Amino acid sequence: MSAPSDRAAWLREQIARHNDAYFVRDSPLIPDADYDELVRELRSLEREDPSLVVPTSPSQTVGAAPDTTFQPVAHRAPMLSLDNVFDEAELRAWADRVSRSLELDPETIAFCVEPKIDGLALSIHYDDGELAWAATRGDGRTGEDVTANVRTVATVPTSIGPLVGGLDVRGEVFFAKAAFTELNRLQRERAEREFANPRNAAAGSLRQKNPAITAERALSFLAYQVVDPANVLDVTSQGALLAKLGDLGYLVAADARVVIGVNAMVERSSWFHEHRHDLPFDVDGAVIKVDDFAQRAQLGTTSRAPRWAIARKFPPEERTTRLVSIEVSIGRTGRATPYAVLEPVVVAGSTVSLATLHNADQVALKDVRPGDLVIVRKAGDVIPEVVGAVPDPALERAEAWTFPELCPECGGPLVRLGDERDSYCVNPNCPAQLLQQVAHFASRGALDIEGLGEQRAAQLIEAGLVRDVADLFSLRVADLEALEGLGAVSAAALVGAIERAKAQPLSRVLVALGIRHVGPVAARALATWFRAYAELAEAPLVELEVIEGVGPVIAASVFQFVRSPEVIERMERLASAGVTLVEPSSDELDQTLRGRAVVVTGAVPGFTRESAEAAIVARGGTSPGTVSAKTYCVVVGDAPGASKLTKARALGVALVAAEEFESLLATGAWRATIA
Ligand code: IVH
Repeated sequence: MSAPSDRAAWLREQIARHNDAYFVRDSPLIPDADYDELVRELRSLEREDPSLVVPTSPSQTVGAAPDTTFQPVAHRAPMLSLDNVFDEAELRAWADRVSRSLELDPETIAFCVEPKIDGLALSIHYDDGELAWAATRGDGRTGEDVTANVRTVATVPTSIGPLVGGLDVRGEVFFAKAAFTELNRLQRERAEREFANPRNAAAGSLRQKNPAITAERALSFLAYQVVDPANVLDVTSQGALLAKLGDLGYLVAADARVVIGVNAMVERSSWFHEHRHDLPFDVDGAVIKVDDFAQRAQLGTTSRAPRWAIARKFPPEERTTRLVSIEVSIGRTGRATPYAVLEPVVVAGSTVSLATLHNADQVALKDVRPGDLVIVRKAGDVIPEVVGAVPDPALERAEAWTFPELCPECGGPLVRLGDERDSYCVNPNCPAQLLQQVAHFASRGALDIEGLGEQRAAQLIEAGLVRDVADLFSLRVADLEALEGLGAVSAAALVGAIERAKAQPLSRVLVALGIRHVGPVAARALATWFRAYAELAEAPLVELEVIEGVGPVIAASVFQFVRSPEVIERMERLASAGVTLVEPSSDELDQTLRGRAVVVTGAVPGFTRESAEAAIVARGGTSPGTVSAKTYCVVVGDAPGASKLTKARALGVALVAAEEFESLLATGAWRATIA
């Protein structure tokens, strides 16, 4: 361990290097979260030993010195930064300090909760209502003159008169997600460098020597602050200011809300976290501001940040970690997917030690090698992925990784067909493929065979009891008892679970078979159209193509699948084992939800909004759009509506996870509720 003073000096140097990369060169070397970590560590060292604080410490300053290629502009009032909190407890501690300073009951304070847009801060000065100049934040006192470029931004009004005197409007310049995607598409088309993220693109576009280039790019400006608003605009609160800015023609955050009390404030800030992927722009947190300007004046500011505002940063979706090795996994179709083995790191709130690298081309493109420091990303529910390597000139890198020629599981050849991006293990007897097929066959969304996970499936294959999914139905208790960890009771339970799976509707069987491109939605469309597997197997291609929700790609895949000799044999065996292979029509369905109102909020995997409602109605229930005291339960999918959740909690209505939707339909009940 180095001495705290050495460590602080090292941290200062690192932070200065990253400030320069981020603020001056618009090309950050590490994710924001790793940067925040460095700053946090420095601040805690300085807290423990105040003698370590030097005037140039990044904890005492804002941003980086302005770039000399732009004219310097002195800000009329300093452009401050915000202090960060990283979880609810820290946010409440901040609110506590605020309420103690104001000597007010925390539940009576009004807060304005806004999205924290990941862009760059801009100050626009108007004289008598006419745009005079615009500048970046720079070091907070002196910024860079980017007036010519800002004049080309469509959402910046150049004239807001009639107003007398000077006015500074501040806000964030950013790229909306859609505009960013389009920009990178154009960059690719022109064989120009693509931007790593919307923030870099915004910075690179605003800090352009040639305003014509800025003009070509669909930058936006969102306003959230005015210097001396009470004097100039006659408003005394943030809520009123945002309304006024909207009236003057500025873009303001549509989802910003003024709420009363700390509890409501915490909840609204979480709303931004839950909805971050639904917003049209990238957000890295929520900004919470004391709404009333008189209260703000009482709270004051420090040299770098106001005491009346705080940024609640969301769990980072990107982190850096060390790449240990690159391996290849074999899926149930034989597809070989490269993945990264990583030193464990917490990303978006969970520990990640494996991340996908998608395919061989991606590994080559990203040029990541064992031993590299890499950026890992986990956005929303997606599988963690490796974004790229962090350049480190001091590191001697390993050889570039090459895709293996042989299947790591069975030693058979890995084949890349025609223009496919993926390589496949084409050995039909590859045990890894069989393992994935069996595990998928028994999984929750498929035949839902309790007690048959990947480990158990591996045992069955190893023992030679299962060579095809159809073999599951001839397993006997006596066969299973011999397996390690399976006594008479659990062996009997497993056989029972397999027996019950025979009655699953055809739609589930189609999912279980793992037909390429056929997910639960298409499976249900096929099953309700044909009702019996025998009909589906005979159907001409044109009939498959006309089914709503199927389309030509799925149709071709199904058409080919049902005609393959292995599949014909498997289906005959399933049928003779007693698997029903029919889809009950809705009048045959158990009326498990008769007279019950089930509200669905958010996306339920495997269902569209319409098909989820239809499934409830087909079982005798209703699916209203609002929660009331009469609601039976609320099914909570991905990105649920905050107001429905709040109302359900207030009324004590059960919240049921989307994963339970199928069993809710089947039984009318749920196993557990969520908080
Ligand atoms: S208020 C004195 N509101 O976040 C208050 N800032 O990390 C200054 N930001 O420098 C800022 N969204 O560039 C405020 N709704 C919002 C914001 C926001 C993004 C940026 C801004 C600020 C940085 C601090």
